[in-house]
Amino acid sequence: MKIGIDKIGFYTPNKYVDMVDLAMARNVDPNKYLKGIGQEKMSVADISQDAVSMAINATKQYLPKIDIDKVGLLIVGTESSVDESKSASLFVKSALKLKASVRTFEIKEACFGLTAAIFTAYDYISTHADKTAIVIGSDIARYGLNTAGEVTQGAGSISLLIKKDPAMLSINPQTSAYSKDINDFWRPTGSATALVDGKYSTQVYLDFFEYTFKNYQKQNHVDISNFKALLYHLPFTKMGLKANNLAIANLAERDAKKLTNEFKNSIELSKQVGNIYTGSLYLGLLSLLVHAELKLNDLIGLFSYGSGAMAEFFTFNIEAGYRNEIIDPYLILNRRKRLTVAEYEKIFTESLQAPIDGQSLVSDEQAGMWYFAGTKNHIRQYCEKS
Ligand code: CAA
Repeated sequence: MKIGIDKIGFYTPNKYVDMVDLAMARNVDPNKYLKGIGQEKMSVADISQDAVSMAINATKQYLPKIDIDKVGLLIVGTESSVDESKSASLFVKSALKLKASVRTFEIKEACFGLTAAIFTAYDYISTHADKTAIVIGSDIARYGLNTAGEVTQGAGSISLLIKKDPAMLSINPQTSAYSKDINDFWRPTGSATALVDGKYSTQVYLDFFEYTFKNYQKQNHVDISNFKALLYHLPFTKMGLKANNLAIANLAERDAKKLTNEFKNSIELSKQVGNIYTGSLYLGLLSLLVHAELKLNDLIGLFSYGSGAMAEFFTFNIEAGYRNEIIDPYLILNRRKRLTVAEYEKIFTESLQAPIDGQSLVSDEQAGMWYFAGTKNHIRQYCEKS
């Protein structure tokens, strides 16, 4: 039985900072951000967007096209959770009006969360072939103003519908996993911003990639020349480029060129959005689907990395109907408003504060989008913009 991705939804907040503006404000050569880091813009979430509202908005993109009564599993992977106890997925389930019989929970292992959700959904569909599963990665990457990580922030959500006989991509169950208890990036309970050992984090990412990629090829008798494209977790696009350069180091020129061209197709969206943690790898997948010419059965390799750290290399195959199912991500990107750095700094600082209980938050989102409207009796309220 083929199991895989049938629909992809994407959401990013309606504001961004241009990297040249940020570089000028930080007294840095803009080419460091544009070329050295590989980012052009980063989405900014104001206080009325969080992991829950973004997850709802991403899923709502394809919701009218699916039978919601068939959804048996809903998982939200996030490292920007809004509650220490209650799952983000319960708020999402309520907004999407899914049935009470759905199994739903939140899952966490840094940026690996959506990959964990996908393989949990794969196992679920293999024993519940008449059901479907919604899995979502939803995050706001916050390092802080004037930090080295500031240029690698972002916000957004990717939602996937997993089912049998998928229209877009089938998932292959063979994977190569590697985990180790390390401290490259983490966010202590109560801290709104992440702590990171930046240089160390980039080195372990590459070490984990080399190990899982080589191991996958050896165990599954697959050669790198079999891949149409390799996709990477993209905390910033230069990180993916470093991994791709390692992958193609000893390849014949023709194969190296093919993988380099597809890599360029896979980073177009991330360059405009920034890091969305759990969804980043799958924003790269969406970017590839939108920009590349793919055909049935093309083999796509994916490297998922979650700090702390857990990594896995695995593969998808392109299915015949993928192009018909693409929902244009540029409709979401092109509606964004460019912030001045002063406006971004104000929004960033406000978004770190806990809302005053009982005070309603307003949103400047477009009609139909969901937003966080504040707390009442310390209960989070989510509304659809009218
Ligand atoms: N023109 C062109 N390039 C320039 C330049 C200029 N004028 N000035 C500098 N550069 C280049 C540098 O040569 C460097 O390139 P290489 O990496 O190829 O050597 C690059 O720009 C970055 O410059 P620095 O090395 O000086 O970097 P920095 O000290 O400013 O910090 C960072 C970079 C460590 C990535 C920092 O942004 C950070 O800590 N980010 C958050 C952590 C992160 O994303 N880690 C990734 C792995 S962990 C992970 O993947 C999980 C996750 O999602 C967080």
